Order: sequence, then structure tokens, then C-alpha cells
Amino acid sequence: MNIGLIGGTGPEGRGLAMQLALAGHTVIIGSRDEGRAIETARELAATCGSEQVAGNFSGGTNISAAAQCEVAFLTVPYSGMLATLHSIGRQLRGKICVNTVAPLEFVSGQVRGIAPPTGSAAEEAEREVPEARWVAAFHTVPARGLLRPGSRLNTDALVCSNDEEALKTVIGLADEMQGIRGVNAGMLENARYLEGATALLININRIYGAHGSMKIVGI
Ligand SMILES: NC(=O)c1ccc[n+]([C@@H]2O[C@H](COP(=O)([O-])OP(=O)(O)OC[C@H]3O[C@@H](n4cnc5c(N)ncnc54)[C@H](OP(=O)(O)O)[C@@H]3O)[C@@H](O)[C@H]2O)c1
Repeated sequence: MNIGLIGGTGPEGRGLAMQLALAGHTVIIGSRDEGRAIETARELAATCGSEQVAGNFSGGTNISAAAQCEVAFLTVPYSGMLATLHSIGRQLRGKICVNTVAPLEFVSGQVRGIAPPTGSAAEEAEREVPEARWVAAFHTVPARGLLRPGSRLNTDALVCSNDEEALKTVIGLADEMQGIRGVNAGMLENARYLEGATALLININRIYGAHGSMKIVGI
């Protein structure tokens, strides 16, 4: 598959790009700055540990990544989400778009979830670009573990969508990543719980000085 990472120069975009390229997909790192995207693609190719996988990385503007891809991952901060979608909405029409965005703010050393008026960033994005096939996922999967080829995260990617086929596709992509299991977390509106859980997880990790993630047991 051809996969675009919108805002792919940050830790989460880089990590997801690494895992997707290791799984054999072609990844296009997107950025507001084409040069930064190309440089990031070069860096990822140099650290992936395989010449064959290195050929899977390329970089371009967010608009060109959105235009070229079959599936897009949105990995920008919440503060830039709507402006980004405004600029690439046309290119995303009819495509599966995986929203990883957790709306968070940092107050007095604590992370807090922000509740968007629609209930979740996932639904806000859907309202902005209703022609895309929206999926919300990977909020609780830390970038750090994704970036290391050969790492075994032993974690779950909780995946929400109202589009059954898109949901299955993204669960499949999660299952292809090292040490990750894709879990069906139901309708897109459930993304509000995932987004909120991200704030909780970051605060727990701060208390323990750890890089914990989330795993559902018993299913
Ligand atoms: N970090 C994690 O462990 C993690 C885990 C799960 C989910 N997430 C979610 O993934 C998203 C990205 O996380 P991150 O840590 O990679 O974030 P980040 O480093 O702050 O941002 C990622 C990229 O977004 C672009 N960007 C920054 N500000 C922007 C703005 N105002 N408008 C448009 N683009 C902007 C930048 O790329 P250019 O300057 O190159 O355009 C940046 O490299 C967040 O929404 C976060 O909630 C993160």
C-alpha cells in the first residue's frame, strides 16, 4: 500500500512510517516543508537496517503525500489539525484517514485532555473533511517504541471507525507492526475515550518515569 504520513516529521509520524515501511508498505513522509520531509525520509531509510526497506521511504509536502497515498495517517498536533485538514481536504476525499491526534494541554506539569465541541478530535476531523473514510487509532502507542526496528512493544492499537472496511484495513496494518495487535474499539465516537486515556497514560508514565502503553486483556 502507498501510505502518507501527514506531519510525518515528528516522533509519531516517524515511528508509524518506520513500522509501515518494515511491513513492506511504501511511505511518503509529509511536511509543511518539503526539504524537511525529504531529510526525514533519508534519516529513516538510513536507520531501518535493510536496503530493501530503505527504498520504501520518500518525502514531500503534506499536499503531495495526501495526493499520492491510498491511506493517510494524520500525525500533527491538535493545535494544527484543522488548518492542516483545510489545506489537504480535497486530496483526502474517498481515502482512509487514520487520525492519531489526541487533544492535550500541559498545565502545571500535568497533561490534560481538551474536550473538543464535537466530543473528540476524531469527530472534529470528520466534520471538517466528511468525504474521507475516518478511522481513529494509535493514540496510546508511544512513538519511542515504534521507531526502533526490531523492538517488540507488546501493546494494542485500539481502532475506532464507523466504516467497517476501513476499520478492518487499519486493524490489519496494526497487526503487521512489530509487537502490536489491532483491536476493534467500535464506533468513531469512542475515540473520545481513547483521546482522554492518552492524557491519563502520559501522566502515569511521568509518575513512573516509564514508557508504558495500553493492552486489553481477556479478548
Ligand atoms: N508522540 C507520541 O508518542 C504520540 C503517540 C500517540 C499519538 N500521538 C499523536 O500524534 C500527533 C503527533 O505527535 P508528535 O509527538 O509526532 O507531534 P509533533 O512532533 O509536535 O508534531 C508532528 C509534526 O507536525 C507538524 N506540525 C507541528 N505543528 C504544526 C501545526 N501547527 N500545523 C501543522 N503541522 C504542524 C510538524 O511537521 P512539519 O513542521 O515538518 O510540518 C511536526 O514535525 C499528536 O496529535 C499526538 O497527540 C503522539
